[in-house]
Amino acid sequence: MDIQALGAKYHDYLIEMRRWFHANPEVSCEEFNTSARIKEELDKMGIAWRPCGLKTGVMATIEGGKPGKRIMLREDIDALTVNEETGLEYASKNPGVMHACGHDCHIAILLAVAGMLNEIKDELCGTVVLAFQPAEENAKGALGMMQEGLLDGVDVCFGMHVWSDIPSGKISVRDGAAMASADQFIIDIEGVSGHGATPHLCADVVPMTSAIIQSLQTVVSREIDPTETAVLTVGTIQAGTRWNVIAGKAQITGTTRCFSNAVRDQFPEAIERIASQTAAAYRGSVKCQYNGMVPPTINDAKFAALVRSSAKKVLGEDALYDYPLTMGGEDFGYYQQKIPGVMVLFGVGNPACDAVHPQHSCYFKVDEDALIKGAMTHVQIVRDFLNG
Ligand code: NI
Repeated sequence: MDIQALGAKYHDYLIEMRRWFHANPEVSCEEFNTSARIKEELDKMGIAWRPCGLKTGVMATIEGGKPGKRIMLREDIDALTVNEETGLEYASKNPGVMHACGHDCHIAILLAVAGMLNEIKDELCGTVVLAFQPAEENAKGALGMMQEGLLDGVDVCFGMHVWSDIPSGKISVRDGAAMASADQFIIDIEGVSGHGATPHLCADVVPMTSAIIQSLQTVVSREIDPTETAVLTVGTIQAGTRWNVIAGKAQITGTTRCFSNAVRDQFPEAIERIASQTAAAYRGSVKCQYNGMVPPTINDAKFAALVRSSAKKVLGEDALYDYPLTMGGEDFGYYQQKIPGVMVLFGVGNPACDAVHPQHSCYFKVDEDALIKGAMTHVQIVRDFLNG
């Protein structure tokens, strides 16, 4: 069956699924009903699956009719703690939780892909692994699935994120860096507290913390290669209990972002050195924690070329969209540290259906009619990689 016919056959199923998952969102690591529904749908299609990763990950496998390579398609399944305000008839039934990043679309796309590939499996040379990945939003899911053998024998991996800031049906496929690393740092600052009238008898963490925050800005401006892109943001400060008491403890937390592993490796040492020596200058001390949460998403150029060519077959010659780099993070980068892979952004933006709100907004909407094209693109990539 050709790809257009497959798309026509699965269009309504995909939308039905998307609306069910949209109405029933679950947060990271708690996607129990989501996982159960995915398994139920795979069972209906007669597709083999096994639990994989945390308590809710699902790995399905479709064996082609002939031997060959192994390709993994990954989509994430978790929702966010956002209170939905779209007013859609299939809006979230779980107050305070919403599929505001479009992972409901991802699940539905991958289920449609499962159905389509299952229909053409006899013609495929190799194996397709479908990863329904939990816990992307807290960066635990990819590692959880990898620990349970998701990547065993896999030659290449592919992931797609729907994106409301790209016109419906267009696709952004970058070579090299595609999304940023997203790490966290926590600095506990210690001084000596006392009466607000006797600063000379104390080590005041308030000016100490201010100086640390100011000095941390020099990591990006003075230490990192200026031709690289990097961000260091302090997001929270906590210090003090009362206006006339000198604070003895403070904590700051923040995030770093960049597109290269070499730059990423610079942050922990630089943050620790600047924080500890600045604190020492003010007669205080620090304890630094640097939590590597998500590595940069770095696309394999050769496989990206194949993805562009496959996408044009499905979406048309003018399908490619040059979307600028985003400092957002994606735990897909963990897979790419092990095997070549490509993560793309797929356009679902369309003012005609109010799909104009950014990812994570309580008004987030997508152009549902584009979703089947995303699924067809997956199928074409599989065909071109395994049989091409
Ligand atoms: Ni997302």
